[in-house]
Amino acid sequence: MKDKDYQEIFSQFKGKEADLLPILLRIQEKEGYISEEAIRRISKFLKLSENQIYGVASFYPKYRFNPPGRKSIKVCMGTACHVRGGKFLSDAVGWKLGINIGQTTEDKRFDFQRATCLGCCTLGPVVKINDDVHSRMLVTGLKEILEKHD
Ligand code: FES
Repeated sequence: MKDKDYQEIFSQFKGKEADLLPILLRIQEKEGYISEEAIRRISKFLKLSENQIYGVASFYPKYRFNPPGRKSIKVCMGTACHVRGGKFLSDAVGWKLGINIGQTTEDKRFDFQRATCLGCCTLGPVVKINDDVHSRMLVTGLKEILEKHD
């Protein structure tokens, strides 16, 4: 993002601590993620430490700190999916892609996120790749869906 993009976003706020989450959201909508540069600028604008900003932002799964991949994989970690094996799926996705939650593969092919609920709990465990929802996912089916989304 350029200087003017930050100025445009900051001009909509008064610089109070309560502005943090909406500012993060605006920046992520514009840039696709929250960069280190964005954290530095927010820190100056809101007079909060960078650690405070990371601490708050990292609590919410929707904020990402890496550029998005061409495809975004979200593994549901909500209760219904968790009890049906969501954690195993999440581990398997991370292992297959060689990245952790919140990261993007080096080739920018996939980014890997967790979701708290994708709204189809009875179909869990659920994995979403961009807009495609894969329900009742098994670890053994991951290879196939990752190749399908290549
Ligand atoms: S808990 Fe996974 S879709 Fe609701």
